[in-house]
Amino acid sequence: MNRIIILLCCITVAFSSCTSKKQEEVKQTDSLTISKTNWGKVDQKDVFLYTLANANGMKVSITNYGGIVTSILTKDKNDSLANVVLGFDSLSLYQKPNPYFGALVGRYANRIGKGKFKLEGKEYKLAINNGENALHGGLAGFDKRVWDASELYTKDSVALQLTYTSVDMEEGYPGTLKSTVTYVLNDANELKIYYNAETDKPTVINLTNHSYFNLTGGKESNLNHQVTIFADSITPVDAGLITTGKIETVKGTAFDFTTPHTIGERIGNVEGGYDHNFILSKAKGTYGPVAEVLDTTSGRFLQMFSTEPGVQFYSGNFLDGTITGHNGIVYQKHWGMCLEAQHYPDSPNKPNFPTVVLNPGEKYYQLTVYKFGVKQ
Ligand code: GLA
Repeated sequence: MNRIIILLCCITVAFSSCTSKKQEEVKQTDSLTISKTNWGKVDQKDVFLYTLANANGMKVSITNYGGIVTSILTKDKNDSLANVVLGFDSLSLYQKPNPYFGALVGRYANRIGKGKFKLEGKEYKLAINNGENALHGGLAGFDKRVWDASELYTKDSVALQLTYTSVDMEEGYPGTLKSTVTYVLNDANELKIYYNAETDKPTVINLTNHSYFNLTGGKESNLNHQVTIFADSITPVDAGLITTGKIETVKGTAFDFTTPHTIGERIGNVEGGYDHNFILSKAKGTYGPVAEVLDTTSGRFLQMFSTEPGVQFYSGNFLDGTITGHNGIVYQKHWGMCLEAQHYPDSPNKPNFPTVVLNPGEKYYQLTVYKFGVKQ
């Protein structure tokens, strides 16, 4: 923990020493840049689209509306660039209902059963937005808020730092929570996401990013993607997708991704498709490997690492061809897959799960990294 805090301090100091520079004048290195375009206004606040680019031609576009990652351009084995996440080209499309494409999700990612929980003897009732449950922070979660943004430059990375203060009882959650999320791009093709938060009253917190990956560049569904998840067990769910509190081994089941399997291979054995929290095998509280995804046709390869104890693997089961995104691509069932670093779903109601309570004076911290490459 101490090492993590020291690392975080170094990063904050490194970034804050460079924050005063304006994007027009700064190209810290020839290779790493940030551009910024006006995207409109929400709640009288300016919304921008920022594009972080590196020496290899990788480009990550992020808007301060919902901290949404709108596109990630990466190269395939023939050096051809394509967008590997689902999303839209305009702000107005993100304001319409959509299944959290690229969004920064909070205050509590994933489901809280019946939208209520007890903290220090008091019951809190959350905004209900998924059957009888609370999902992804409620009706107006962090994905629908305008974040304050600043561009940061260091010698070997560019970053977008976003801050949002969620007021006491927003969407039913106690405590004023100040969150800072920093998206960092470097020349190693790593998109690093640092999450920090502090509260003035005890609260619960579970932040994540909800990008839908399609390493084919949207050419076909993700059923042929080869997935490895470094997890020996999952938290099974009931019919309403609420965790039962049990922990089950993946051995001998369609959830065993400890060696690579395509998504399509065994999805027929999983009712509704994959939409489950995997308990990562790495030691509790450490930063380590989460998952790997390979599209053998394009050669695109994604590696994911995190400090979080779990990852929600969602195979885009609710996509149904009613949404058209970038380049006129129709998002059919399984067109994108999510790997959401997180604490276990419904932890506030599951005392046997690792705690998600954040108290005043404590610092919430998460680092999750998506690293892109190619395999010939
Ligand atoms: C998550 C959930 C899914 C679904 C999507 C959004 O990842 O686990 O069940 O709600 O978000 O459509």
